[in-house]
Amino acid sequence: MRDVTLLDLFEHHITQKYVKRSGFAHAIAVAYHAFHLAKEHGVDVDIAAKAGFLHDIGHFTWFRNGKWDYELYKQNDIHPIKGAERAHKLLIRLGENPVRAKTTALAILFHTDSFLPTNDIERTTLQKVVKWADEKDEEEGGAHHYRTINKERARQSIIRLDQMIDAALGFGGEEQKVAE
Ligand SMILES: [Fe+2]
Ligand SMILES: [Fe+2]
Repeated sequence: MRDVTLLDLFEHHITQKYVKRSGFAHAIAVAYHAFHLAKEHGVDVDIAAKAGFLHDIGHFTWFRNGKWDYELYKQNDIHPIKGAERAHKLLIRLGENPVRAKTTALAILFHTDSFLPTNDIERTTLQKVVKWADEKDEEEGGAHHYRTINKERARQSIIRLDQMIDAALGFGGEEQKVAE
């Protein structure tokens, strides 16, 4: 069994507050993309899915006169830094292994170049996977942050992805639980 599931993360009030801000539909889509890409590239599917799900947990909305101001956002945004820290704290609080929590936080920190002064970061494959997963779900003008999903559907999608992760890791679901 994993120490922390996506459902544990989804149900936590910190996630409900901050991931909701940048959109659960986007977070879940990126978690699924990250899972599949991780499988394809032979990296940890659990960490990839968690980092994908939490990658935008550090988001702010930048408004000027009641409207999203993209220039202001580009100039001042540090959401990967805030997100890495916030996700790390949440994972540790829920009982995640500290090495895995750090790896997840670093994948969140490097999920985009948008906040960095240069584009010359050397990423690990896992970090690339999370970046690609995010780019796969991106829509023009940040529209991906405004797609909606109702809470029950979101919950069911998270449960299904948890089962896919368990299957990929060789955990057998019910029998596994009884055996422990
Ligand atoms: Fe982001
Ligand atoms: Fe994103």
